[in-house]
Amino acid sequence: MAASMAVASCWVLRGCRDQRLLLGWGRRLCSGGGRAAADARTHFGFQTVSEEEKGEKVYQVFENVAKKYDIMNDSMSLGIHRIWKDIFLHQMNPCPGTQLLDVAGGTGDIAFRFLNYVRSQREHQVRQQLRTHQNLSWQEITKLYQEEEHKSLGGSHVVVCDINKEMLKVGKQKSQCLGYSEGLSWVLGNAEELPFNNDSFDVYTIAFGIRNVTHIDHALQEAYRVLKPGGRFLCLEFSHVNNSLVSSLYDLYSFQVIPVLGEVIAGDWKAYQYLVESIRCFLTQEELKELMEDVGFLKVEYRNLGSGIVAIHSGFKL
Ligand SMILES: C[S@@+](CC[C@H](N)C(=O)[O-])C[C@H]1O[C@@H](n2cnc3c(N)ncnc32)[C@H](O)[C@@H]1O
Repeated sequence: MAASMAVASCWVLRGCRDQRLLLGWGRRLCSGGGRAAADARTHFGFQTVSEEEKGEKVYQVFENVAKKYDIMNDSMSLGIHRIWKDIFLHQMNPCPGTQLLDVAGGTGDIAFRFLNYVRSQREHQVRQQLRTHQNLSWQEITKLYQEEEHKSLGGSHVVVCDINKEMLKVGKQKSQCLGYSEGLSWVLGNAEELPFNNDSFDVYTIAFGIRNVTHIDHALQEAYRVLKPGGRFLCLEFSHVNNSLVSSLYDLYSFQVIPVLGEVIAGDWKAYQYLVESIRCFLTQEELKELMEDVGFLKVEYRNLGSGIVAIHSGFKL
């Protein structure tokens, strides 16, 4: 069974690769410049659709699953997506004052982790500062702590930008429930045409989002544009498994279990079928690295997690 799944997924993967070449999804077309023709075709999972249709279908998927999105993430990944996101934040290692743009930010998982991380960094900074002033009176120490409480993020801010109103709505409700208000804003916007000025952010993140974007090269160009010189691009995304045993088990789980979970928990088999298929059709680690380099990012590197089930790509605007 596992072997036949592996063969099937190989076939499918080859199909997706051929499709990418046919549909001009590859590097040559991207570096060819100019926006794609209005009638260009692309993939939506294993289907071939018009680019316009892809945008609509992706929108529908996330509109339909928005309310169940978080619970589905936990069930499908057995909670492992939380570990990947924590690792992602540690790799970012933001300091107080960082201005972050989280694109395809959905229900805010990266933004909330960012705020927690920066707050704890800030607390650490303040404790260090107080330790260096050994001769302060207790009144002065209390006053300093009170002042610092009001600037617990040290000026950091995160903008969550997503194309889907429903995902943002769930994210905003979650932020209220969890008590996040300071240093956070929500913006409706398309990764391919970001509603922000040039050179605005220190860090741009996109977690499990870039796979869903129709023109990945345009999204990367936009990321480059809105980052400040010296800014960092970080992408967390499903990728290609480099271990044959893990790959067989992963395929078995993906194709046999995930759509069933999607139906049982979110009442939407198709959305989770799309998830599995879109992962198989997505760029390899090296292909995404090359696209990033094409738009001008430097020091581009990636790190596989879980034998490549996901990968973190990093690059700088220098
Ligand atoms: C799998 S969710 C990821 C959400 C969140 N980043 C996380 O890690 O949990 C993908 C998100 O990408 C968003 N998305 C898809 N296409 C987009 C686009 N062109 N521009 C901005 N967001 C997009 C969807 O609306 C959805 O919220």
